[in-house]
Amino acid sequence: KRPSGAPDKALARPVGTVGVVGAGLMASQLALLFVRRLKVPVVLTDLDTERVEKGVRYVHDEIDKLLLKGRVSTDGANRLKALVSGSTDQGVFAGADVVIEAVFEDLAVKKQVLARLETIVPETCVLLTNTSSLSVSQMAADLEHPERVAGFHFFNPVSVLPLVEVVRAEKTDDATLATVFQLGRALKKTCVLADDAPAFIVNRLLTRMMGEVVTAVDEGSDLHVADSALAPLGLPMSPFLLMSLVGPAIALHVSETLHTAFPDRFAVSENLGRLVAAGKTAIWSYDADGQPFVDEETAAL
Ligand code: 3HC
Repeated sequence: KRPSGAPDKALARPVGTVGVVGAGLMASQLALLFVRRLKVPVVLTDLDTERVEKGVRYVHDEIDKLLLKGRVSTDGANRLKALVSGSTDQGVFAGADVVIEAVFEDLAVKKQVLARLETIVPETCVLLTNTSSLSVSQMAADLEHPERVAGFHFFNPVSVLPLVEVVRAEKTDDATLATVFQLGRALKKTCVLADDAPAFIVNRLLTRMMGEVVTAVDEGSDLHVADSALAPLGLPMSPFLLMSLVGPAIALHVSETLHTAFPDRFAVSENLGRLVAAGKTAIWSYDADGQPFVDEETAAL
């Protein structure tokens, strides 16, 4: 069944090579998903060799875990690993059919990335962004071919969560959108078409829910009490544990985007701002037995 709002499948272009810009948390998970599901060459790039190597190593390690779990054969694992490569030179995207960017959440940075990609990739290459909350239309506004840009927003952990938001920007054309939906099907994901509105669908809802818990702590509630208040609902993770998975910097950024768009509905937490400024990448840490705890420095912030 065609997802609501998806254009005719016949317009979709085949995808034989994928590029991923960035080698961070989301980018390397995306590289893994693409290679595992599409079995095509996937190349990821980042600013320095260390980050690129870390990204490729993550994909290789995850493929090894799949091998241990018996989900791929030894030959299969070796074939998948051979399909993944990394580079600091975006020239490697010259033959790509699709390139997805998952770099730092900053509109100017993303615009720069897309502008540079446009000078490298083939005319028919689809350019995607995994942005959590920024405007895809603004991102594409100055490009020569904004019609081939769309949002393709995944959720962490990428290999587990089925949903992907497909964001149609002002100028996205039907061939691009059809290609993206076809890609989503090949990746075995459930795609929903989202408007190019601040934080799209999921992050707008999630940030409202998490924001109330964060505000409760800002207003003096005990962190542990506030964080466990929704436990009887059976959520897979408590709000602060989820924020640790996503990364406090991303959570802060989404809340800032939403606050700018809807100041009466979304607050930006000063506590969260302090935590991010202090370089904390999680709220909960894990002890040697895998049990989550809040370290003293974080609790004091
Ligand atoms: N990375 C990759 N895979 C992970 C993982 C991680 N961080 N954590 C768990 N997994 C995998 C495990 O390997 C396991 O895979 P398998 O079944 O193939 O062996 C599977 O997930 C289940 O793991 P567990 O049994 O250990 O743990 P749970 O059953 O408790 O599930 C969870 C873990 C899937 C993370 C679950 O707690 C969950 O769904 N949490 C909510 C996550 C969520 O809401 N994410 C959305 C965040 S918003 C976002 O990403 C958007 C961005 O723009 C901000």
